Order: sequence, then C-alpha cells, then structure tokens
Amino acid sequence: MSQITEDIKRQIETRRTFAIISHPDAGKTTLTEKFLLYGGAINQAGSVKGKATAKHAVSDWMEIEKERGISVTSSVLQFNYGGYCINILDTPGHQDFSEDTYRTLMAADSAVMVIDASKGVEAQTRKLFKVCTMRHIPIFTFINKMDREAMDTFELLDDIENELGIAACPVNWPIGSGKEFKGVYDRASKKVEVFSDTRKGTIQGEVKKIDITDLELSRFITDEQRAQLEEEIELQDGAGAQFDQELISKGELSPVFFGSALTNFGVETFLQHFLKMTTPPLSRMSDKGPVNPMEEPEFSAFVFKIQANMNKAHRDRIAFMRICTGEFEAGMDVYHMQGGRKVRLSQPQQLMASERKMVEHACGGDIIGVFDPGIFSIGDTLTAADERFCYEGIPTFAPEHFARVRQVDTMKRKQFIKGINQIAQEGAIQIFQEFNTGMEEIIVGVVGVLQFDVLKYRLENEYKVEIRLDNLPYEYIRWIENPEIDMDKLSGTSDMKKVKDLKGRPLLLFVNEWSIRMTQERNEGLMLAEFAR
Ligand code: G4P
Repeated sequence: MSQITEDIKRQIETRRTFAIISHPDAGKTTLTEKFLLYGGAINQAGSVKGKATAKHAVSDWMEIEKERGISVTSSVLQFNYGGYCINILDTPGHQDFSEDTYRTLMAADSAVMVIDASKGVEAQTRKLFKVCTMRHIPIFTFINKMDREAMDTFELLDDIENELGIAACPVNWPIGSGKEFKGVYDRASKKVEVFSDTRKGTIQGEVKKIDITDLELSRFITDEQRAQLEEEIELQDGAGAQFDQELISKGELSPVFFGSALTNFGVETFLQHFLKMTTPPLSRMSDKGPVNPMEEPEFSAFVFKIQANMNKAHRDRIAFMRICTGEFEAGMDVYHMQGGRKVRLSQPQQLMASERKMVEHACGGDIIGVFDPGIFSIGDTLTAADERFCYEGIPTFAPEHFARVRQVDTMKRKQFIKGINQIAQEGAIQIFQEFNTGMEEIIVGVVGVLQFDVLKYRLENEYKVEIRLDNLPYEYIRWIENPEIDMDKLSGTSDMKKVKDLKGRPLLLFVNEWSIRMTQERNEGLMLAEFAR
C-alpha cells in the first residue's frame, strides 16, 4: 500500500468544512457574504445576494427559485483565509427546506448556527440542530443583529441551553444592544472590542481593542455600562459553562459569539476563533472501520446530494460529493462501490464565491460536483484505494408532508412513472406505494412542502406530464425495523396507512403521535424508527 505524502497531509490539515444553519432572516446570507469578503473571494458587499433582484445569485438554478427569490438547493463556497482553505456549505434559509438541507449537514465537519439576537432559537434552527447533534459535530453560535434591540444576554444563552439541550459558553459578551450597542468584551483577553459600523463592505483596519482596566474605555462606554458588564461577567464566570475545547469538539458545548453581520462587527473575530476551535477533516466510519484522512493516501468520497438540470440546455445531473481522503484530479478513474465498476469523474465543478468553476485538483475536506450520467445515488462511495470499502450510509430523513399523486393524462403513465422514479432516486422526494399493490397508487412524501411544487414543476417541464396532488393528513412516518413482522397481521389505528418505500421496506404513516403509541401497544415487540438506515 502506498504511503500518504506530507503534502497531502498538509493540504487536508488546512481544510475547514462547515455548514451554516439558521432560521430564515437571521442573517446567514449576510454573514456568509462577510466571510467571503475577508477571504478576498468577493470585492463588495451585496455580491452574494443582489438586493435589486432579490435573488440568491450563488445558488439559483431553477426558474422556481428565481420566481420566489429563494434558493431551493444548497450550495458550496470555497475561499482562503489566514492559511486555511474554507468550504462553506450553505443550507436553504427559507421555511420550506428539503432533505438536501439535512444531507448537507452529513458532509460538514462542523456547523455555524446564526441566531437573531431579538428572537433567540427559532423553529428551523431547532430542526437542523437535531441532525448536528446526531452526528456529534462541533456547533458554533453567532448571535447576530446586536445593532438592533436584543433579548437579554442571559436569556439568549438559556434559550440555547434549554431549547437545544447543549451547554453554551460565551467567548465574548455584548455591551448593550441596538442604539446602545457599544461592542463586545473578549473574556480571554479581557479587552473590549469597540463597535464600529463598516457596512459598506470595506474592511476598515483593525477593530479598536481596549483593556477593561484602561481609562480610555470611558470614552466609549458609560460608567453604568461598565458596572453592568462587570456584574454580568462575574455572574457568568461563577455560574455559566466554561470554555472546554474537548467538549466543543464533541459537540457538547457551543462557543457563543456576539456581533452584527450587517455592520461587519464581530465577524472577523468570530472567523479567527472559529478556525482555531474547529477541526480539520476527521475519520469517517465505513464498513471496514474508521477511515482516517491522515492515514489513507488514496482518493475516497461519498455522494451527499444530486442536483438535476443545472443547465436547462441539456438535461444533466450533478452529483455532489464530499472528498474524505486523498487527492482528486480531474478526469480520474475511481471505483464506484454501489455500481460495482470503475467510473471517470468528469466535468468536476466547484463553486468559488459566485462562480462555478472547473476544478482540476481537490483534496480531503473539499466538495466537488461531478457530471452524473444517472448512475449515482445519495450515500454512494467512490474510492481509488485497492482495499475497497463503503462509507456509512446517509440516513433517510422522515418526510412530514404527504400527498397522493396522479397524472392528469392517463396516456402519459409511462413518462409519469419514469419521471417520478428518477426524481425520487435523486432524493428530492420520497415515494411510497400501498403495501401489497403495484404502482397504481403513489404517495409522495417531502420534508418541506415546497418540494411538492418542485415535483410538479419538474414533471411538467422535464417529462411533460401534468400531475394532480391531493394532500394526505399524515404527518408521521415510521420504518418497521423487525424483519419478521407480518404486515397483514399488524393491527393499527383506523387512520394508519401501511406502505413500502422505493427499496421495498415496510413502513407506517400516522396522523398523530397517539396513533403511533396505540399501534405500538397493540403489536408487542414492534420496533419503529424515524430514520431508515
Ligand atoms: P438569511 O440569509 O438568514 O435569510 O438572512 P439575510 O442575511 O438575508 O438577512 C435578513 C435581513 O436581515 C436582511 O435585511 C439583512 O440585511 C438583515 N441583517 C442581517 N444581518 C444584520 C445585522 O447584523 N443587523 C441588522 N440590523 N440587520 C441585519 P432585509 O431588509 O430583509 O434584506 P436586504 O434588503 O437587506 O437584502
């Protein structure tokens, strides 16, 4: 077996691959934009999201996105800063997100959670957070919009701890908020970073840092504010969670930073701390045990997202993969484990700020998109190593909305079945069939209701099939984990539905949690799971 070179190790060590999560409007786009600005990847604020057109220029790829001014799919951005090569995985910020959002988190090594200081933890953050904790990845909190009236600092920290069940340790502490926002106090250096508004996107030199004991501080904060700060810090030092790098790495403690992305305050401080506290790519589980990027010299990657029709002119699909080990060279041949054969990775692409670029070289930690002639599925492993292995699969996340789907024109049955199966294979939707019947009745399940529109749009535009969707009342899905269970004998509540998924696995749809409990009581030993593995 060949040895890993020092050069590859060095390259991988500089990689920091993380996802940004937040509830819509908390400021994720603005923060990303400021990161790119520091990395020199864009020259001007406003490049990520054009105000006038109200669209996310980076990841728009479908008409539907443009019409609504939202990004349906998640995109990846790469930039360099301070000797690090940073990959940001963006997750859609609107209410209706899809499974892609969850899957993106499977490709990240850590997560940055953006919270609006006036709102605290909101619904979508809570959902995404669940996946982060399932993976035990480090989670960093940026409390944004301090230039607006904010909730009390202790309340915000309590909110994170209570709502998300993770200890929160403030790295810095805000002094006032809104019109009275004066800056943040860095707990380690005991210096106050004085608030300045540099929203125009030009980075104005160094942030002014003044020691807490320095008399000059009184030029910026009142005696009252200083007294309040001292009191709050004393309280926090005495009773709050303390900094512990090990707990951060295990995802059990979230370092918290305060700032204002719009005015460009606290962003670089956050970035610098974050880069030191987060990890380079670590081992990933496979069927031959953990695969360590510092030991495995050969290329390996797994597919976490498949995106169709990036280019309207040709019906192409791009498979996004997270490189775990080794180096990638454009046009290389690798073994596709699930396909059982060698494939050439062609037309590799990477997003650099707002441009899509062909990539010649990438390494462990990076994300690339390669042309997919329809052979890849979510979770597939690709490897150039002699000793073959498969990375642990990506769980199927539970859809929360269901509808019965029919084609309007019965003559178009064939196209309909082909289209809906292809879209389901890409992982954009999940389809289910009645147990014991053929394809007559198709039920589609989605994580966010917007996916219904995406399905309708794509079937009409790509497969020329018009469909009708009838919403179903189910909200809960459970995969049956006992292989021996006899589906015909299983007795549930009258509103329960027995179905199977694309892989033929049996599962149950429920209207409410009460029905789940009743069904479990009526069938002793029945094992139900929220994720299909
Ligand atoms: P998102 O990606 O999380 O959905 O949020 P986004 O960055 O688009 O920000 C949502 C709104 O909040 C934007 O205003 C943005 O300018 C504003 N914002 C972001 N960070 C801050 C901050 O630190 N302070 C203040 N005061 N506002 C902030 P908008 O008017 O909805 O959009 P736009 O017209 O500015 O694009």
